[in-house]
Amino acid sequence: MALSWSVAVTRQIPEAGLSVLQESTTVKIWEEKLPPDEVQLRKLLAGCDGALTLLTDSIDGALLDSLPRLRVVSNFAVGYDNIDVNAASERGVLVCNTPDVLTNATADHTWALLLAAARRIPESIEFVRAGKWETWDPLLLLGQEVSGATIGIAGLGRIGKEVAKRARGFDMRILAFDPYEDEAFAEAHGVAYVTLEQLLEESDFVTLHVALTAETRHLIAAPELDRMKSSAILVNASRGPVIDTEALVAALRNDSILGAALDVTDPEPLPADHPLVTMPNCIVVPHTASATVQTRDRMADLAARNLLAGLRGERPPASVNGDEVLNR
Ligand code: GLV
Repeated sequence: MALSWSVAVTRQIPEAGLSVLQESTTVKIWEEKLPPDEVQLRKLLAGCDGALTLLTDSIDGALLDSLPRLRVVSNFAVGYDNIDVNAASERGVLVCNTPDVLTNATADHTWALLLAAARRIPESIEFVRAGKWETWDPLLLLGQEVSGATIGIAGLGRIGKEVAKRARGFDMRILAFDPYEDEAFAEAHGVAYVTLEQLLEESDFVTLHVALTAETRHLIAAPELDRMKSSAILVNASRGPVIDTEALVAALRNDSILGAALDVTDPEPLPADHPLVTMPNCIVVPHTASATVQTRDRMADLAARNLLAGLRGERPPASVNGDEVLNR
């Protein structure tokens, strides 16, 4: 049966989302392992009413101008810094994302990174694999105590708040920096709002959960790294460019901070010989904070339902510019 809407999906996604789309649209899928380049993306999206995109797809005004039929861009991510939302709104294109469904997985992963860095888990695994484990040693692979330490959360949105809740289980002092303060949450969960400067100076663990915007690009650069304790660990599960990569490499090299654990980097991917990958005091994982079977199914389902609702002219479960586009 020929289905009236044509949509493009820019990579293989879980069946949970694909099947929803296939029920009522004609779906074109980018089957390659690597993302389409600019030209390939334009070709893939040509003639489509909607697109299910990934954070590796750059969607700007020029691309949208070449796709007059495209009405909905549904991003398979909570972040949408890959999309020029103003350009989309100006052209009446609805942009959607996948908030909430990945909050717990991302907060859990942040904790996995924090604990792995604090307790030197990757180095310990490497040590055993290399056959270096000869005896119990009082001075072997000493890490940093997490329980009772101070955690500083930059960006106390959905994910930052879940990170804070988990910190309570470790009896931590919890500091947060966010221009939009949620006093009720802070009071209920023992969080103290502070300036970014105070957070950096007093935290044993600094974890970043801000969206990437012009204001948050290089939020953590050399001056901010200088403010951190030399015993502190920096965790990033937001977007790579929130940290100035060169400044971080320098800070880790000269021991001005103790370590870093990064789910995201700038650029992505990092080559295997990049200093952040090879330094023992830095852990890098390949942007997998939301990568659980259950969460990726939920993201696929939500992204598909967003796309279909947008095509039907209905308000999607999660849209970024619904107010601008649907009320025009
Ligand atoms: C992943 O980084 C996301 O924004 O969902």
